[in-house]
Amino acid sequence: MNNLFPFESKITKAERFRLLNQKPKVIWFTGLSGSGKSTLATHLEFQLTAQKFKTYLLDGDNVRMGLNKDLDFSNDSRKENIRRISEVSNLLLDAGLVVLSAFISPFEEDRNQVRTIVGKSNFIEVFVDCPLQVCEERDVKGLYKKARLGEVKNFTGISSPYERPVNPDITIPTHLQSLDESLILLLDFIRPQISYS
Ligand code: ADX
Repeated sequence: MNNLFPFESKITKAERFRLLNQKPKVIWFTGLSGSGKSTLATHLEFQLTAQKFKTYLLDGDNVRMGLNKDLDFSNDSRKENIRRISEVSNLLLDAGLVVLSAFISPFEEDRNQVRTIVGKSNFIEVFVDCPLQVCEERDVKGLYKKARLGEVKNFTGISSPYERPVNPDITIPTHLQSLDESLILLLDFIRPQISYS
């Protein structure tokens, strides 16, 4: 950190927001594998784009195939995974975008760190709350079965912990409501917070 001299862009944040006609936010989806984070984030992004918001979607499986392909699922790697993603989210936020980040992010401490990095007022925590049993029944990727057989190690909910958010901004119980119902709730909650005027 020594001998570094950060420079300042001539374009202010306020100018970028005005040009893009929106207030950028990081919308952070946390929840178990199979809870519906990616599905919700993808559909929400589609609807926001249709309403002329400028967005960018970051998703666990995708980021882990590129930027974070050196990381595994140990506690330390998950921590580093979330730290890097918070920094990327922060850059995209600074660029003026509405960032949708969908990651299990199982540790409260790491989610708090994201909140600190991007700024409390820029952060919307969405808890995608679906019981383990339902996620396991869905088993969209077949990973729960493998985890039970011991073929996948450190699997969240089975052999690695998931800490439920203490005070999320919004909770979406995907086992109790349809995708459309969830999207209406999310849109109603988020739209006023990202609208410029
Ligand atoms: S996190 O815990 O570090 O936040 P992240 O969201 O990036 O996880 O990645 C989760 C995705 O990786 C899951 O949706 C699943 O497809 C895949 N995966 C592979 N192995 C594991 C594992 N041991 N635990 C959880 N997810 C895993």
